[in-house]
Amino acid sequence: MKSLVILISGRGSNMQSIVEAAAAEQWPARIAAVISNRPDAAGLAWAQSRGIETRVLDHRGFATREAFDAVLSAMIDEYSPDAVALAGFMRVLTPAFVQHYEGRLLNIHPSLLPAFPGLKTHRAALDAGVKEHGCTVHFVTAELDHGPIIAQAVVPVSPGDDETTLAARVLEQEHRIYPRAVRWLLEDKLVIADGRVHVREEDGTVKAVLLSD
Ligand code: GRF
Repeated sequence: MKSLVILISGRGSNMQSIVEAAAAEQWPARIAAVISNRPDAAGLAWAQSRGIETRVLDHRGFATREAFDAVLSAMIDEYSPDAVALAGFMRVLTPAFVQHYEGRLLNIHPSLLPAFPGLKTHRAALDAGVKEHGCTVHFVTAELDHGPIIAQAVVPVSPGDDETTLAARVLEQEHRIYPRAVRWLLEDKLVIADGRVHVREEDGTVKAVLLSD
């Protein structure tokens, strides 16, 4: 059985969507642990209520990013994960950490990358006047919010939108595409060729990923 570790920093709604999908679809995988860098992350209590092991590693106790990432990595590796999912994990990761999990580390970002990397993506989308916005699941590479794109979902931007309404519309899609992408990774269905990600179907054929429909 495959093993998944999920990293959070707060609410943990994406973590919840993965846990719920794994249970509902009976993935041949276990959520080995949910780890937070913040002791007050609301998602920890939810994970515990589902009987999932939770750990806290407070980044404020470390002098450098490297020191934090080294201990975090050792903690994660206790579970020998096949996949590690960043789910609202608000830390910039060191190249050594990212390299250690190359091909196993996924992130969900609330924009259609490469547009609007970084924070406050919904504000940036509104300010730019884009008519479509969305979210992206990607493999994590050393460069922040880059890395091969696995799946995206598009939502319209409405004239009356503010950050709250737009964020809610995007979040709904995050909860749809992240579990699917994590499942593909756990099922060894993702193929990276020339920096592009494809999904290997049961019959061995390789298809591009489109989740907007
Ligand atoms: C999500 O919008 C995610 O895309 C971003 O941070 C937010 C985390 O929300 N990286 P949650 O903790 O999963 O509810």
